[in-house]
Amino acid sequence: MCGIVGCVGSDDTGRIVHQGLENLEYRGYDSAGIALTGETLTLAKTAGQVDELTAPRSADATAGIGHTRWSTHGEPTETNAHPHTDCTGEVAVVHNGIIENYDALKTELSEQHVFRSETDTEVIPHLVEEQLADDVSLLSAVQRATQRLDGSYAIAATAAGHDGIVVAREDSPLLIGHGDDATFIGSDATAFVEHTDRVTYLESGDIAHLTADDVTIYNGGESVDRPTDTLDWDAEAAGKSGYEHYMLKEIHEQPRALRQTISGRIDDLAIDVDLDVDLPTEYLQSVEEVQIVACGTSYHAGLYAKELLETYAGVRVTVHIASEYEFNGERDPWRTLVLAITQSGETADTLSALREAAGAGARTLALTNTLGSTVTREADDTIFIRAGPEIGVAATKTFVSQVATATLLTVHLGQVRGTLSSQATTEFLESLRDLPGAVQQVLDREPTIERAAETYADSEAFFYIGRRTGYPVALESALKLKEISYDHAEGFAAGELKHGPLALVTPETPVIAILTDGTAAEKTVHNVKEVESRGAPVVGVTSEPTLTTDVDTVFEIPACGPLEPVVANVVLQLFAYHVANEKGRSIDKPRNLAKSVTVE
Ligand code: F6R
Repeated sequence: MCGIVGCVGSDDTGRIVHQGLENLEYRGYDSAGIALTGETLTLAKTAGQVDELTAPRSADATAGIGHTRWSTHGEPTETNAHPHTDCTGEVAVVHNGIIENYDALKTELSEQHVFRSETDTEVIPHLVEEQLADDVSLLSAVQRATQRLDGSYAIAATAAGHDGIVVAREDSPLLIGHGDDATFIGSDATAFVEHTDRVTYLESGDIAHLTADDVTIYNGGESVDRPTDTLDWDAEAAGKSGYEHYMLKEIHEQPRALRQTISGRIDDLAIDVDLDVDLPTEYLQSVEEVQIVACGTSYHAGLYAKELLETYAGVRVTVHIASEYEFNGERDPWRTLVLAITQSGETADTLSALREAAGAGARTLALTNTLGSTVTREADDTIFIRAGPEIGVAATKTFVSQVATATLLTVHLGQVRGTLSSQATTEFLESLRDLPGAVQQVLDREPTIERAAETYADSEAFFYIGRRTGYPVALESALKLKEISYDHAEGFAAGELKHGPLALVTPETPVIAILTDGTAAEKTVHNVKEVESRGAPVVGVTSEPTLTTDVDTVFEIPACGPLEPVVANVVLQLFAYHVANEKGRSIDKPRNLAKSVTVE
């Protein structure tokens, strides 16, 4: 969840690395640093955000590495910020991941080396220093140092008087960007996207040496070839395009993201979908249970997928918070499909659940947004949600694209298993085709949503209620509000209110009710009455105005079949955004959070 960037071969390295850190700030932003090397090493660090870091200058710099941090070991101080250096001040290392045996290594190295920080990372430059003392190359020194490390890491090392940058990857993502005049490294392509779209994804166990004219990659001591891919998005797609925040831009990109998700996947003539995934028909017919593993917003997309898959594809579905997942020994692994939903493809909890499932012999399928991510390498099959880059920490367009992709999967499974009638198929596909337009209509009504957000912004707490597919949307909408506004917000299954949460409801706590198609809205209306009689203001989201005659605020949305709750979610993303903006919160970088959570 920290960000790494590096550059070799440019005479403007300091500025390029600084720019890369700005691009990467969404991965972590409590401290940052840059090291430049040529004949000497120049270092700059800050305990704040990247704009508080002055890019170092060095007349002889030929290589540079930078890091933006989200603390795991040690407070976010300047001393704990990366890059970390050795005793001589000539070796600099940046690192993402966790060195599990750092305590033992630190104790051993402390006899000869002086440690300054509280981080696990600092053992690495000292290990490299020990190896360089044997007069070996920087490549060999890093290679030998990594042999001592247990855990997950993406490392970039550079040293005064040594040519280029050496990088190593074990689990944590790292990729190389091939520019015309310079070569780059990044924990994701956002780090260098304005310089090149040609990338090489490193694999676990790879070590690479980057110099001004060459890139060589080794694995297990052997030189290996890794393919060069072309990114399907560019610097403009990763920029803010005039919006005040990435989150707002990404909310507005949802019609396009959804069109990309479904593009080419619906066969109108055959009334079928093509997910471009190799899941044999006989296997899908024999599946007894789909187990979904995911975290946060992706978990909510999983709950939505469960409703669809169980109802229309006739398969039992269990949804697991990934960090709590264990493969149930009573299930037949051959008849269990484990579906990992993760926009980043790098979430440690989700990867660990996936590994547990694979270890038990289950077939695994990933639903992700990120080409080349770890989940795509480890899962048996992958379906891409094609939402485009998402920079804001709060997931928005990836949620709607995850649900749209799960809908395509439901249609495919329902057809293969013979549980989905042609009428239901047509209804689903129509709902999918209508979705981008319906979302656009909601976006066009943003000023109304903004005004309502201003009205309710000072409330004590916000409660969201819904049933069926309205329930995951209630959970997701509450998550969005709490993470960016820091207000207390909770989602409930509407029927559960009277079993406890109703005690929290007062005239100071608006209740937001999802009253859309497919969510048993006529029942939820009774729960609306329960809270109204306790004096709570009610906000209703519906396509059916007769359901909301009594409520204080109505967000009317276009009818959109089984995916109508997704349209309601977009309304509530905007609501959350404007409540948070009214309070002047740091919307793209909420406190304590990071975009990609690569530790368990
Ligand atoms: C919330 C949010 C997180 C992520 C969660 C899983 O807005 O973004 O809850 O959904 O950390 O991330 P991925 O989908 O990358 O596995």
